[in-house]
Parts: sequence; structure tokens; C-alpha cells
Amino acid sequence: MTNDDKEIEITLSVNGQQRRVRVDPRTTLLDALRDRLKLTGTKKGCGLGQCGACTVLVDGRRIVSCLTLGAMNDGRAVTTIEGQAEGRLDRIQAAFVEHDAFQCGYCTPGQIMSAAGLIAEGRASSDSEIREGMSGNLCRCGAYTNIVAAVRAAAGESGT
Ligand code: FES
Ligand code: FES
Repeated sequence: MTNDDKEIEITLSVNGQQRRVRVDPRTTLLDALRDRLKLTGTKKGCGLGQCGACTVLVDGRRIVSCLTLGAMNDGRAVTTIEGQAEGRLDRIQAAFVEHDAFQCGYCTPGQIMSAAGLIAEGRASSDSEIREGMSGNLCRCGAYTNIVAAVRAAAGESGT
């Protein structure tokens, strides 16, 4: 039996498109997105659920994609950083640029997806709420002050 024989086919709605993908049952959602679907905007940092670099939205809710298997998300709707922009930067991405909220940029896709979830949850109304809600997203460059400012600005524009 080859490795291919052990693979299963799952269907994900990724950024609004139905995608069928064959994965080993042990493949994380993160690896399915990056390695199988070639959506490399989602970053792998720790692989242990501790850094938030791999944050995506599943059915509109924030998750760390390194801690869930692709197979567990069969049939679900996944939004990655590639789905945020609509031909131009969305308001959160634009706010990150405007507020100089990244340095190396490695954590930024996860920060932006986490911010999108936080704003949708209606939990971005103050700096302390943003800090708490984004506490699972680490930035080794230490851009936190500007990240909070960017999220606050993006949340304000959305009226939350
Ligand atoms: S790579 Fe998933 S939380 Fe760090
Ligand atoms: S901008 Fe470099 S890790 Fe956050």
C-alpha cells in the first residue's frame, strides 16, 4: 500500500470556492492549505497552537489551523488571508499599512485574520479588549502598539 492509498478526499469551501483536496488523514488544515492548495499566505510558526501565525477563519470563527486536521473541517468554509483582499486591500490590511503595523510581516496574515474575527465578534471596542482578543497572536518584531492602533482604526470604520 502506498501513501496515496491512505489519503482521503475532503471538500473545503476556501475563500468562497469549493476545493476538493486529497490529504492524509493526519494532515493539519494548515498543511492542507499551504502544501496541497498552495495558499501560502497562512504562515507556520510554532506548529503547536502557541503563536497564532496560522490563524484562519472557519465558518467565520478564528482558529489556529495547525491544531485542527483537514479532515475535521470537511465541508466547512475557510477564509484565509488570500480571501481578505477583493482586488484591493481590505480595510484591515489597509489599516495595517497606514499604521505601520508590521515589520518582517511574518505574523501579519495571522494578525489580520485574527483581527477580522475579533471585529466580527464585536470585541474590538477598546485597546484593552483588542489586546486581550489578539493575545494569541505573537509578534516577534514587537509591533504590538501599531497593531492595536490598526485594529482599532479598522474596527472604527466598520462601526463596531
Ligand atoms: S503555527 Fe499555529 S499557532 Fe503557531
Ligand atoms: S512583524 Fe515580524 S513577527 Fe510580527
